Amino acid sequence: MQSAFYKRGVLVTGSLLSSVKRWRGAMSVTFRVQLYFFLLSLSALKGQSRYLEENEITPEGLFSLLNSELKRELSEDFIYRRPLRCLDMLATEGQFTFTADRPQLNCAAFFIGDPNEMISIEYNDVNIDCDGGDFIKAFDGWVMKGEKFPSSQDHPLPLYERYVDFCESGSVRRVVRSSQNVAMIFFRVHNAESGFSITVTKLLNPFPCNIISQTPEGSFTMVIPQQHKNCSFSIIYPVEIQIAELSLGHFKHFPIKRVVPGCAGAGDFVELLGGNGVDTSKMFPVADLCYSFSGAAQMKIGCENTVVRMVSSGRFVNRVTFQYRLLDRSERASENQREQCGRLLFH
Ligand SMILES: *[C@@H]1O[C@H](CO)[C@@H](O)[C@H](O)[C@H]1NC(C)=O
Repeated sequence: MQSAFYKRGVLVTGSLLSSVKRWRGAMSVTFRVQLYFFLLSLSALKGQSRYLEENEITPEGLFSLLNSELKRELSEDFIYRRPLRCLDMLATEGQFTFTADRPQLNCAAFFIGDPNEMISIEYNDVNIDCDGGDFIKAFDGWVMKGEKFPSSQDHPLPLYERYVDFCESGSVRRVVRSSQNVAMIFFRVHNAESGFSITVTKLLNPFPCNIISQTPEGSFTMVIPQQHKNCSFSIIYPVEIQIAELSLGHFKHFPIKRVVPGCAGAGDFVELLGGNGVDTSKMFPVADLCYSFSGAAQMKIGCENTVVRMVSSGRFVNRVTFQYRLLDRSERASENQREQCGRLLFH
């Protein structure tokens, strides 16, 4: 458990392992966090009430926030508590309290769990002025730079049901729950001393579908058991992906390894997508795989976001197993020279 966070710490420093460099990394993380706070408060000062969803938060910036949060081994009955910041990222369960020290108009907190977890957010003490323009809105997913994950096409709920506005429904819905391992809240509080507390817990998701990886390296097996739906596994880092096994029901008896640029006509396939936002419907196809195989197909995708997306007709049990690792600096440089992100980078 702990190693995932540890690894991230190492990676932010540029994949270098010595503790000295890790320390320096921590310094630059602090700087970046300050920078984001600065940008947020700047836009608030300018009075640009740009809609919060058009935030400038990048995946890298977001995960650097997480880096300051070391995962703790906690005893069962101990509730971890800490203040919630105006821009925050949480991977731990606990109780988080936001208290405004001045008008804070563009705040967002991002939550992430393991792939097989869902996020539950319970409002405890809420002391905000809804009539005066304060709000807290939960979102079932993440919104970054105006793009949503999971995309509207892949989420089980219509978009309007993914937002829960505390000021409209707080008296009846004190608890909101996400459909996947990521969720977030947007909030705006005008008066100093106003604020709220939330309790974040993680629930087991027996059928994880859409997922954002917490780490730039790992492995995963995605299974869609005879369901008509599409699932995406998103890695918001430039990575090399190795597909170890792909099993699509309809071609089970033809173990042909083949990669074609399109899987037109196939109702069941896996696509690899690359792009610089989080909405999978706006990303570029890097490769389509519509034949079962086992072995290894690997490719490097030099984009900010890499997605393995499985399209399933519901007629078969489909399964894909893959591993991924962060591209190192020189690999990134050569990928960038070769082609623009999102163009075909197949090796
Ligand atoms: C899954 O994705 C495919 C292709 O992107 C689309 O044609 C299909 O309608 C989607 N299925 C569902 C259930 O959303």
